[in-house]
Amino acid sequence: MIKPGTLTRLAAKHGTPLFVVDHDAVRRNYRAFRRHLPRVQAYYAVKANPAPEIVETLFDLGASFDVASMPEFLIVHEFIKGLPARQRQEFIWDKIIYANPVKAVETLEDLDRYKPLVTYDNLEEVRKIARHAPHAGLVLRVRVPNTGSMVELSSKFGASPAEAVDLIEAAHVAGLVVEGLSFHVGSQCTNFDNFLQALQVSATIFEEAWARGFRKMTILDIGGGFPAPYDRHVKPFRELARRLNAELDRLFPPPIEILAEPGRFLVATAATLVARIIGKAVRDGKLCYYINDGIYHTFSGILFDHCQYHVKSFKPGPTEICSVFGPTCDALDTVSLAEDLPPDLETGDLLYSENIGAYTQASSTTFNGFPPAKILHVNR
Ligand SMILES: Cc1ncc(COP(=O)(O)O)c(C=O)c1O
Repeated sequence: MIKPGTLTRLAAKHGTPLFVVDHDAVRRNYRAFRRHLPRVQAYYAVKANPAPEIVETLFDLGASFDVASMPEFLIVHEFIKGLPARQRQEFIWDKIIYANPVKAVETLEDLDRYKPLVTYDNLEEVRKIARHAPHAGLVLRVRVPNTGSMVELSSKFGASPAEAVDLIEAAHVAGLVVEGLSFHVGSQCTNFDNFLQALQVSATIFEEAWARGFRKMTILDIGGGFPAPYDRHVKPFRELARRLNAELDRLFPPPIEILAEPGRFLVATAATLVARIIGKAVRDGKLCYYINDGIYHTFSGILFDHCQYHVKSFKPGPTEICSVFGPTCDALDTVSLAEDLPPDLETGDLLYSENIGAYTQASSTTFNGFPPAKILHVNR
């Protein structure tokens, strides 16, 4: 966590809104992930925060990457290009999985020359891949319970377990090779049973696939969903890891390779936003602060990620329940209707929000002409 004194100093120097990314925190999170899940190779989900500086820090630590669009693929590929020529192709699966189960034909055509590893979950995608990216290796994305996760994904993606082996066979008939399975338990998954049920579902599919002769399947990708410690109700990651390790060893002993696609867990706690109060009013007896960042910008996660961020004051003292609004003229631009803030803050004073590194800056817009927050990388 960056100290409040440092944040105000940085805001004075660089202006606001200022989105401060602490690379020491990114490194700490990555090392914790690897330490607690030693069998699992982490493919950072670039969509959580696509800053190339973050990709570089994780690349230097030995991370791999989950990308979901061609621009994300190219961000990561810039770093792979720096490797010696022989390693570049040899390493592409070790470094990148294209984990968007539905891809445009043009994307497949662009991807094919990299001989990528891609996910799929339906028959139409098998036909498209066979025709437009025949050099790809496939991973079948399976639908698993997303119960209680903050962002649920199972209504959009994932083959039902009942059709899984038929989809593996369909890929085989089309001349493609299925290398393994993937799933996603939903983002910010605090219901650890989702992970355990997903492992059980995957084990059953593996067994049936092997029995039907698809012996090349050696990858299990356990997706994202690892929860960030937004508040004290989130059970510690080490508890999830302990349960996962035991089940992975029981159901998927080596030589099965285990991958994961953590996004939020690696970057949520690594960024803090500093914003400035630009106006103040009392409406229906309630104090309202207007700040120079909002739901169309860094706080976009409130809408797209279903996440709430607390807004804090640098000034100590008694507080009352206040509303905090963003700068645009849309009433949707509401950061919070209930924040504990001092009533005596003035225009020009600074506020800050911690744990705002995932799915925030990534979905910022320029609505109403307000530019996104300036991004500052510290401890690189
Ligand atoms: C396919 C896929 N993998 C990984 C992630 C990252 O998930 P999380 O940030 O919850 O770890 C997502 C998030 O939506 C995803 O769709």
